[in-house]
Amino acid sequence: MTTEHNSGWNRDVKIPTGKPDGGFTIDTGVEVNQLHNEPVSPKEMEREIKVTDRDIGVLFPSLLFKSRVDDADFLEEVKEKVLAAAKDEKAGTTAGDPNDPVGWYSFDDLHQREGFEDVHTFLLKESAAVFAYYDYKIEQVYLTSMWANVGYKPLYCHMNHTHPNSIFSGVWHVSTPNLGTTFAQTTTFSDPRPGARVIEPSVNKDHAAHNSGTVSPVVNNGSLFMFPSWLPHGVQQAYQDYNGTPRITISFNAMMTGDITTRTAPIRFS
Ligand SMILES: [Fe+2]
Repeated sequence: MTTEHNSGWNRDVKIPTGKPDGGFTIDTGVEVNQLHNEPVSPKEMEREIKVTDRDIGVLFPSLLFKSRVDDADFLEEVKEKVLAAAKDEKAGTTAGDPNDPVGWYSFDDLHQREGFEDVHTFLLKESAAVFAYYDYKIEQVYLTSMWANVGYKPLYCHMNHTHPNSIFSGVWHVSTPNLGTTFAQTTTFSDPRPGARVIEPSVNKDHAAHNSGTVSPVVNNGSLFMFPSWLPHGVQQAYQDYNGTPRITISFNAMMTGDITTRTAPIRFS
């Protein structure tokens, strides 16, 4: 059943009112299968057509740089320094009940705090390597901010977020509860492409980076992740007790100095 629609630019179009339910379809008078082929499973194709030169291109990738500091003494040293700073009211903010806190966050000037010179130097060098990988034309790299995050219990989490006013960011996992299990609380990254998750088919076997909306890389004590600052990430609540091991990370933002000389879009960072 159709009705005449006589107003506006489509006055000549007949609009069906009966099907599909609630839909808005222009009735062409042609069966759908005359316009489109029947869906065909690849297994049902009878004619064998030889296809060669198969390849998979990766466009606009979101790079995650992974590495690890394998020096247990250094990690323990940094862990103790962060836990000591967490007792200093002038060094950060407590989350939750002050008498039984869920977490603690240092202020973002940890790179300038006495005792963290080694951490600053190593994270700065790692950041410079990322800028070099991108082959960006810059004068210098520097850390605009560096801060510690401490989780005391599984309620600790951090909502999905990005780091504005920065080019690259990183998270260094100094202490991770439940290591060696699926409950080790890593950093979880989310797909930054707004159109990519409109339809999410179920997966037969394994989720991987190319068919997932989130990726939670395996983490160890000393694991360092660096990534573009626009890449959304967060920390999910743990499902297993920390068993007395706090979750400690040190996060940072890396910026450049130098001129961007793009025509019509020049800017200087200094
Ligand atoms: Fe972050």
